[in-house]
Amino acid sequence: STEQGVRYRQPIVCVLGHVDHGKTTVLDAIRGTSVAQKEAGGITQRIGATDIDAETIERSARALLKGAKLKVPGLLFIDTPGHVAFSNMRARGGALADIAVLVIDINEGLMPQTVESINILKKFRTPFIVAANKIDLIPLFTPVRDVSFIECLKKQRKEYVEELDRRIYELVSALYGQGFQSERYDRITDFTRTVAIVPVSGKLHIGMPDLLMMLAGLAQRYLENDIRLRTDETRGTVIEVKREEGTGVTLDTVIYQGVLRAGDEIALNTRDGPAVTRVRGMLINTHGRKKGLREVESVQAAAGVRVLISDKLDVIPGTPMIVVRGDRDKIFEEIIKESSVSIPLSEHGVTVKAEALGSLEAVSYELGQKGIGIRSAQTGDVTKRDIIDVATLQDPMEKVIIAFNVSVLPEAQQAAAENDVTIIQGNIIYRLIEEVEGWLAEKKK
Ligand code: GTP
Ligand code: NA
Ligand code: MG
Repeated sequence: STEQGVRYRQPIVCVLGHVDHGKTTVLDAIRGTSVAQKEAGGITQRIGATDIDAETIERSARALLKGAKLKVPGLLFIDTPGHVAFSNMRARGGALADIAVLVIDINEGLMPQTVESINILKKFRTPFIVAANKIDLIPLFTPVRDVSFIECLKKQRKEYVEELDRRIYELVSALYGQGFQSERYDRITDFTRTVAIVPVSGKLHIGMPDLLMMLAGLAQRYLENDIRLRTDETRGTVIEVKREEGTGVTLDTVIYQGVLRAGDEIALNTRDGPAVTRVRGMLINTHGRKKGLREVESVQAAAGVRVLISDKLDVIPGTPMIVVRGDRDKIFEEIIKESSVSIPLSEHGVTVKAEALGSLEAVSYELGQKGIGIRSAQTGDVTKRDIIDVATLQDPMEKVIIAFNVSVLPEAQQAAAENDVTIIQGNIIYRLIEEVEGWLAEKKK
């Protein structure tokens, strides 16, 4: 991981795509376990992090790398759920990612959450490759497993290869419709302008060397500045917050810079503003022979780590975690700044509430795409104060609160009814936006 004295951390790779297109299975094939089968109902409900070191990548892609050495020390994969209800988690994963893998079932093509994922990638300008999955289901497939795509191709009949190509070109044209030029990875001449499509089968472990090689290449091409290893500061993002009886609060985090140690003082953003607490313990997920959660004393970026804190803080998912070294006020200022979303507000428009910053940004982005102005965007449940705030507005088209994945408190519900304020509530972005459009169109009449 060293070249001319510069060291790099692992790039964070987000795995995105439509439900059941095979994200977890592909990730599973990469790490050689069987997570997908163990998940409740086969549906990923949370974000998990998986660390693959450079040695493993080099070993897997040896034949394809032809002796080339990786500059990155590995890749940290973040699995995300594809189910419609979890757009907030896709957005959070997308915000963290240095690069991404968009998994598309080659037999289904682009589906609604594929398009949603593409929009997240566009929004954060995240470079990505496409894993065209389930190539083993294409008719006339000659069974092979644990091989690269290139090796797999050699074993296939002409008719299969033609059908595979036909489907790849369908994908290429669908991606073109989303604004991306793409091509089967081994035919690309200009990698700076073309999205690589790697045909794979997660189930039969086909194409994993190709996928890893392309990811490592993508990482090295785009990220040299972003992923320089730094040890002067320790930073991460809180992905999920859980309150547990007895143990206090656990935070599932991704550390993207520096080293986090047990006992470290950390600054977090809570619903009551920035706060400081201590790392009481840390757990990481380990793979290989000793699978499961393991307690650790320290972790180095990039890493997924569960952090235990004893204070009962109401931490906001999607906000920063910074180790306090030096001026606490400056860190608080920074936390507030980093937590503040990049949502262009206008003087007039709708009011948005969402459960986390990532989802707030995602909803606001989609509203913006539809030309709908936003006057206020905040995290948290819909309170009576929100209603009173909106009730004072003159324009009837502004008397609406869009509530994404949050509750409406009972007294807010009552105040809304009394003050003729409409609450449009939901946890599926696209449906929510459609409802808002419908409501606005109705009001206009
Ligand atoms: P969510 O996390 O729920 O969005 O799904 P996912 O994208 O992680 O998909 P998952 O890995 O759970 O796979 C969904 C189904 O597709 C499972 O039954 C897998 O066994 C199957 N599957 C995944 N990859 C392949 C593949 O390459 N070939 C075949 N035949 N089946 C696959
Ligand atoms: Na699934
Ligand atoms: Mg999954």
